[in-house]
Amino acid sequence: MPPTTLPSSILVVGSGGREHALVRALLASPARPRIICAPGNAGIADEVACFPVAADDIAGLVALAQREKIEFVVVGPEVPLSLGLADRLLAAGIPVYGPKADGARLEASKIFTKQLLLKNKIPTAAAGIFSEVAPALAYLKTRGAPIVVKADGLAAGKGVVVAPTLAEAETAVHDMLAGEKFGAAGRQLLIEDCLVGEETSLLVVVSGRDYVILPTSQDHKRIGEGDTGPNTGGMGAYSPAGVVTPALLDRIEREIVRPSVDAIAAAGIDFRGTLFIGLMLTPDGPSVIEFNTRFGDPETQVVLPRLATDLLAVLWAAARGELAGTQLAVKPDHALCVVIAAKGYPENYPKGDAITLPSPLPSGVSIIHAGTAKNSSGRVVTHGGRVLGVTALAPTLRAAAARAYAVCDQIQCASKYFRRDIGARELHRR
Ligand SMILES: Nc1ncnc2c1ncn2[C@@H]1O[C@H](COP(=O)(O)OP(=O)(O)OP(=O)(O)O)[C@@H](O)[C@H]1O
Ligand SMILES: [Mg+2]
Repeated sequence: MPPTTLPSSILVVGSGGREHALVRALLASPARPRIICAPGNAGIADEVACFPVAADDIAGLVALAQREKIEFVVVGPEVPLSLGLADRLLAAGIPVYGPKADGARLEASKIFTKQLLLKNKIPTAAAGIFSEVAPALAYLKTRGAPIVVKADGLAAGKGVVVAPTLAEAETAVHDMLAGEKFGAAGRQLLIEDCLVGEETSLLVVVSGRDYVILPTSQDHKRIGEGDTGPNTGGMGAYSPAGVVTPALLDRIEREIVRPSVDAIAAAGIDFRGTLFIGLMLTPDGPSVIEFNTRFGDPETQVVLPRLATDLLAVLWAAARGELAGTQLAVKPDHALCVVIAAKGYPENYPKGDAITLPSPLPSGVSIIHAGTAKNSSGRVVTHGGRVLGVTALAPTLRAAAARAYAVCDQIQCASKYFRRDIGARELHRR
């Protein structure tokens, strides 16, 4: 990285665990920047000034950045990116980490991404694209079950049905195309073959045709222990992911990362942000499940604490188009994050339950806030489905798990729920 001057004032956009982890990592920069966040949460507000501007209030965020003389904006969630926040900030002369709306389409339209992958012969499941019920149902019959039905647009993690039977797939087609449940996101859909294998994801910092791959990680998506029950935003994660051996990582880079970055650039998109590549490790090799265009949550909570390189320098270089030649230094430690949710999540759950955190925390452990707020008397209370993340760093994954769980047990909150088996898949591999 060339020695450019790093920005001295930064706005982080978002309010979840990912954003708290980003704020922490940026605060640790030797450049000692002033950081603000919008809208933030109770934990972020303990560390930096938070402003009550919603993450989808594009005009409000641009005005905030101007008023606060912000030199660099780091965007957490996908919605503001797809609404063109980066375009608007750049038009106002404010550098931003996070793609413009054209790049955010790689997450906001599963059809756009599928077409890009197929056109460039990047491994991904075969798929058909439909906007009418009858041809979609006919296609289902030709492919058989299990099969996957996906709403095209952003659906907050609810737009994908992995259907074990044709009947369930047909219901999903009707719900998305004929029903109103998915709004504009379901006007078109993808029907794709079901991939079998272990899932993993890769976070890649991209700047045009240059990129750096962040340390590997895996998350646990299901609510229940043993990876059972409904999907969630993620109940925990760990890094590194042993399943991604150095040889496999080389193959993923050669067959998927490099061709994807090139294909995106060739499509005329100057992508400067995180490309989150969801992968299925099938018996025939790695295959792309999806792209997201932002950091993962909770993957970020285990990946960033392992970086020995200044995150601010990396994100700034990417935003400035100066990423070429960047090498990351990574700590040998294992990181593990347990998500503390509110009982009932991902369906209905209470809000406003008081939270008491242990203090001081043992070394190597940190608590990240996700869905928290302060009530009128200043107490930290639950305010979302995923409430906290307990991240531990240790020389082994087993030690990291022991450290994290000791703290999970000390957290007091009436609606506390967490999985006891985060990392089990990896621990049982040894
Ligand atoms: N072709 C497929 N074969 C098997 N499983 C699949 C396939 N496509 C998706 N899935 C499963 O469904 C999940 C969600 O799919 P996908 O990642 O495309 O949707 P998403 O709603 O955008 O997810 P996210 O919230 O992680 O961004 C995947 O993590 C995977 O478990
Ligand atoms: Mg997605």
